[in-house]
Amino acid sequence: MDYQQLLHDVMDTALRAPGRGRPADYIPALAAVDPTAFGMAIATVDGEVYGAGDWETPFSVQSVSKLFTLALALAEGGDELWKRVGREPSGNPFNSLVQLETEHGIPRNPFINAGALVVTDRLLELTGDAVGAVRDFLRAEAGNDGIEVDDAVASSEARHGHRNAALAHFIASYGNLRNPVDSVLAHYYAHCAIAASCRDLALVGRFLASHGVRADGSRLLTRSEAKRVNAVLLTCGTYDAAGEFAFRVGLPGKSGVGGGILAVLPGRGAVCVWGPGLDQAGNSVLGVAALDALTTATGWSVF
Ligand code: DON
Repeated sequence: MDYQQLLHDVMDTALRAPGRGRPADYIPALAAVDPTAFGMAIATVDGEVYGAGDWETPFSVQSVSKLFTLALALAEGGDELWKRVGREPSGNPFNSLVQLETEHGIPRNPFINAGALVVTDRLLELTGDAVGAVRDFLRAEAGNDGIEVDDAVASSEARHGHRNAALAHFIASYGNLRNPVDSVLAHYYAHCAIAASCRDLALVGRFLASHGVRADGSRLLTRSEAKRVNAVLLTCGTYDAAGEFAFRVGLPGKSGVGGGILAVLPGRGAVCVWGPGLDQAGNSVLGVAALDALTTATGWSVF
């Protein structure tokens, strides 16, 4: 397989499709990103990595980080987490408040903001440093000690984060946070504000293609936990567009409003694509188009 040629071909196909979307601007620091940036990388389970376009440029991982907080919270604390967060698609936007009241402060899934706040709280409870745990995991799996939190993005979001603050306080009112709301929010904003490249994220995503085994051969998740994380990625990883993402791409994947999407190629590796223009659901337009082209060209969809 000529991965390099494959990446160029699928990126060309994506660029020929109409529509680019718009970069997120509700976090002001994200609006400064180059809207024409576009990169893609594939990492294989045996550690080879290939890339094209802006594949080595760090971008704000945002909600892609929720995949790592979930995996680390399960690795550290096991099934207890599922008493505090569900695993059904929400059918609502990622930052919606509406289901929380009728569902008594138990968020629908770990990837909507409400659920990710509970997972961050759990990881904080288990490790004492949720953002440090995520950053160190990314550094180790990507072999890149330069991966850092972008403090300007984290503080920009904190200054404009009224909706996340409302979600966190509402969850706390149901007794579903163990740590002070302010520290949960600070860790959440910081892990969302980690800057990493397509290269880094594709390398990190391999543990989900390897049934939970890390780059150094040690086990992060049991085979069953890895299956479960992949299942929740498929059904909830792209929010209320998860059905459309399964229809077009057919891979477990997690998007972020920084324009990144990390998808798992079970048994093969992981692929990350970055294009800052977003659709209505907050998913990268070029990213979905490129992954659609990838699975169409290769037949690597799980279906
Ligand atoms: O909480 C937020 O709104 C952002 N830090 C992350 C949202 C996000 O990336 C949604 N993904 N598409």
